[in-house]
Parts: sequence; structure tokens; C-alpha cells
Amino acid sequence: MKNLKAERELAFDFLRVCEAAAIESARTMGQGDREHSDHVAVEAMRKVMDSVPMRGRIVIGEGERDEAPMLYIGEELGGGDYSDETRAEFPEIDIAVDPLEGTNLCALGANNAIAVLAAAERGGLLNAPDIYMDKIVVGPSCRGVIDIEAPVKQNLKAIARSLNRDIEDLTVICLDRSRHKQLISEVREAGARIRLISDGDLSAGISAAVAGTNIHALMGIGGAPEGVITAAAMKCLNGEIQAKLVFDPEKLGVDKSKVPPAEEVMERLQSMGIKDADKIYDTNDLAPGKKIIFAATGVTDGALLRGVRFFGAGKRTHSVVMTTDTKNIRFVDTVHVEGGPDAVIRF
Ligand code: FBP
Repeated sequence: MKNLKAERELAFDFLRVCEAAAIESARTMGQGDREHSDHVAVEAMRKVMDSVPMRGRIVIGEGERDEAPMLYIGEELGGGDYSDETRAEFPEIDIAVDPLEGTNLCALGANNAIAVLAAAERGGLLNAPDIYMDKIVVGPSCRGVIDIEAPVKQNLKAIARSLNRDIEDLTVICLDRSRHKQLISEVREAGARIRLISDGDLSAGISAAVAGTNIHALMGIGGAPEGVITAAAMKCLNGEIQAKLVFDPEKLGVDKSKVPPAEEVMERLQSMGIKDADKIYDTNDLAPGKKIIFAATGVTDGALLRGVRFFGAGKRTHSVVMTTDTKNIRFVDTVHVEGGPDAVIRF
């Protein structure tokens, strides 16, 4: 990004992008149609994003060009309302989007669905494949003490020590999946409490990095794209993520036929510039950018953000926007007024 001013203004633009996606998907809350919820979020996100004054490029999106008509990896967008000459002056931005993180959560009206994205200067976000990733996420006090290769108990001991408490006082958040049987039993054996969630390890990771949520670590295997966006949030929150790509059916607890063959995955990784499939990624590997913007808007109510509320004269959204450069973490409560001059706005 060219300068601080551009970053600040872009942060505000990206806030509008997330708000739009959240509003559209929130309208579909509880309809039981996750694909439709996702589709309307994608459409809304793309439309607003294309008007942002930038030369944007999607690095993490809805999939490859042939499988996703919008927000596909490599799609260039932004500056839609400006002339080519003006556009040439705009900053080059890489963007990772998850227009609706927690499609099932929205479809069921469950907590913690969000519309979310991360942006950075060119090359500032890892171009991660849409496969699984093992992750451990902690907050600022525990930075530097975790090791994804170490036994669960050792990590919990280190986290407890850093937080000046006992393992029994920790809560670990983890996706409720059969692949986590061993992890869950190790957390229990170590004595920590555990919160199992049906979906949404991105917002769960953010809760682990924010004091006061009573979540002290996220552990387990979720999506790699979510891992990159989590890393962008960690850069802004001073938290830490360690991660490793996973495509071994045994580790995923699924039959071989359920995942692409290892050779196919390796080929895909190579084509994305990933040479070492066993690499352990840290926050900076996943989000190396120096000027990172993270924005998220609540779709349904959650630990950090309230969901979208609709009322006669408009709607109200709750978002968080964070930037590394300015070190601002803004919680933004927006009333989108639609009624005429007599519309009543409540605090
Ligand atoms: P979607 O929003 O794409 O439905 O993803 C939700 C999610 O729970 C992510 O938060 C998580 O990383 C991933 O799915 C886990 O994948 P799976 O459901 O296959 O275990």
C-alpha cells in the first residue's frame, strides 16, 4: 500500500465490504440453505469490493476460476467506478476473503457466523490451498511458548504458566470432529476445560487471542484458508498461530477415497509455490504482509460481534476492523438508515 492514508481509507472500505456481505447473508439466517446464504454473501461482497479504489487481487477466495464465478483465486477487482488512468494510481492489494465463515451456522441461525476478509500489500498473504490445516492459536501473553509439534500437555503447561494459572483454569476451543478424538482426550487428560464447536474455527481463533473471552487456545484441524485469515488477525492482535497443512486421510480420520490422492495435492502445492508440504508455518509465514487490514462483521451473534439486526428504518451491524500499521482495533457499530426523514435511530 502506498501510504498510511491509503491504508486507513481502505480499512474503512473493507468495513463496508464485510457489512454488505453480512447483511445479505443475515437475511437468510435459519433458512437451512447454507449454499444460498454463502451465495448472497459472495455476491454482495464482490459488488462492494469492486468499487474500492485499489487494484485488488483475490489470493484466497471461493475456489479456482472454473469452479467459482465470483471471488475466485486470481480474480482482479477494484476501482470499478474509476477511469483506467486513475485506477493505475491505486495501490496493489492482495485479498483473502471468506464472505460467510460458518455457512452452517448461518443456515441454522447458530452463533458466530461472520463475514470476513484480510488484505495486504502484494505478496502479504500466503496463497494457501483449500485443504486442511492443523492449527494452534494463542494470545499475546503466550506468544513464543507454543510448539505445534509438542505434546498437547506440554503446550497447555506452557500456556498456563504464561497466563499465570493452572491448566485446570484453561479453556481450549476445538472443532467437534471425529478427527479430534485423540486431541480432545489429551486436553481432557491434561485437565483443561474444552469447548467443542460445530463450525467456525476462524472466529474461535480470534477469541483465543483476545483477553476476556475465557478462551485460551484454539487447537485442531480446520481449513487452511481460514488459517491465513486468522494469521492476519493475529498480526493485528499480537497473537500467534502455528500451523501445518494436513492431507493424510489417516490424520483426517477419513477413508482414502474421501480426499484427493497425495500426488495430486503435492502437484497443487508446487503450482502454488509451496515446496515443503511438512513445513510448520508461523504467523509471519501465513501473513508476511507489513500493512495488513483485517475486517469482520457479525452475521449471527457471537462472542466478539453481534449479528445483524433488522428494524423498520434500516439495519444495524457490528464489526471489527484492525490494521497493523496504525495499530488500531476498532469495533464499529453501524446503523444503516433506510427510512425517510422521520426514521427513529436508537442507541
Ligand atoms: P464454511 O464457512 O465454509 O462452512 O466453513 C466452516 C468451517 O467450520 C471452518 O471454520 C473450518 O475451518 C472448516 O469449516 C472445517 O472444515 P470441516 O467442516 O470440513 O471439518
